[in-house]
Amino acid sequence: MFSGRAIRSGVNATGSHASALSKTGAASRLSSTSKPQWRGVSPQVPIGNRRWISVYGYTQSKALVYSRYGEPKDVLQLHKHSISAPHGTQVNLRLLAAPLNPADVNQIQGVYPSKPPFQTALGTQEPSAVAGNEGAFEVIATGSGARNVSKGDWVVMKQTGQGTWRTHAQLDESQLIKIENKEGLTPLQISTVSVNPVTAYRMIKDFCEWDWMRAGEEWLIQNGANSGVGRAAIQLAREWGIKTLNIVRERKTPEETEVLKKELLDLGATAVVTEAELLSGGFRNLVHDLTRQGKEPIRLALNCVGGKSATALAKTLAPGSHLVTYGAMSKQPVALPSGLLIFKNLAFDGFWVSKWGDKNPQLKENTISDVLQLTRAGRFKDIPVEEIKWNWDMDGSELISGVQETLSGYRSGKGLLCYKGQD
Ligand SMILES: NC(=O)c1ccc[n+]([C@@H]2O[C@H](COP(=O)([O-])OP(=O)(O)OC[C@H]3O[C@@H](n4cnc5c(N)ncnc54)[C@H](OP(=O)(O)O)[C@@H]3O)[C@@H](O)[C@H]2O)c1
Repeated sequence: MFSGRAIRSGVNATGSHASALSKTGAASRLSSTSKPQWRGVSPQVPIGNRRWISVYGYTQSKALVYSRYGEPKDVLQLHKHSISAPHGTQVNLRLLAAPLNPADVNQIQGVYPSKPPFQTALGTQEPSAVAGNEGAFEVIATGSGARNVSKGDWVVMKQTGQGTWRTHAQLDESQLIKIENKEGLTPLQISTVSVNPVTAYRMIKDFCEWDWMRAGEEWLIQNGANSGVGRAAIQLAREWGIKTLNIVRERKTPEETEVLKKELLDLGATAVVTEAELLSGGFRNLVHDLTRQGKEPIRLALNCVGGKSATALAKTLAPGSHLVTYGAMSKQPVALPSGLLIFKNLAFDGFWVSKWGDKNPQLKENTISDVLQLTRAGRFKDIPVEEIKWNWDMDGSELISGVQETLSGYRSGKGLLCYKGQD
């Protein structure tokens, strides 16, 4: 019997065999107890003409991995490896869908603060990390000690940084959040629930003491309003009786800009304006009119852009309000006029959902559950996506160019890897 995590020689995207067994942990145990069977490549049986499953019960998996930081097109590789049958509390998973988020690319570039450790556990030639932080998986097998999840359940990973861009994975059940009632939900909805909606939810709830007696009379303002986070913020605010003033970048033509504005208005945005309008001289008057001559205060600003856009958001805030920065898409620093700090007593905060989730695991689960409840009720709409179908036989190039596109801007939808293979 083999034990431990699945680890034997892999074949990378170019077809060459990756180095032998990992030198660490489970892999060492595997090599000492089962060495003769793992010298070279194990016998394999074709399933149809698509995938191969080892006669020893190992599942074949492919993962997008990187062993150094850089642009995805330069450093990502598709790596093939085996996963053993799960034992104890281990769980084997098959990917349903995984989004390509800006932070995932920043992580690959090496400019993101959380850096998954580079390891040889999957039998890569060099120590590597599996890319991706968010995704929905289906449980395909459980070890005899698993109590919380069963075959057929849908799960997401409890923490970010676990590597979601892979067709299959083996994790301990303690690393997973089970979706309690997947009825009526889609892989897209589950795969995109744990980062962006949770970020929007927590920023709105935790950085402002809304006066619930004034429901419908208080505002939040945000830039990047068409992002995943922005769309979630619009819908949650609508549910909670908070008006939203939303900033988007102009599209190529006025007609396209109007289409985008309408999309957000349909989600429940109170008003949508372009970045050019935000930075124009007339914006002050526009805000004055929208807020009934200031009688309805703007009490929270959500900033994922930085630079002049962030400064302009801050200027609209009522005294004592908060501006929360959670992204830096323009790569420009946030510059704040001193008067806003001195005379308006504004507070400037940052929020990072990864850190927050690690500190508040139960609250994170509750937040996910709340959002999924709204989704089931048809009150939380899907984000627009560009599906990238991941078939077993694909080489990595199409997947990797999808990743490379993630930060290109003005996109009609977020990239979503959808695995179409079998267990
Ligand atoms: N701190 C956290 O915990 C946390 C959690 C989730 C996300 N985030 C951050 O939130 C931001 C949005 O993430 P997401 O996944 O929601 O994004 P997304 O759905 O992929 O959308 C990207 C957004 O960024 C905008 N954008 C791209 N380049 C820009 C630029 N140079 N200047 C201004 N806007 C630009 C896009 O506008 P166009 O359509 O006009 O290109 C779009 O609104 C990212 O910075 C991400 O890292 C942070």
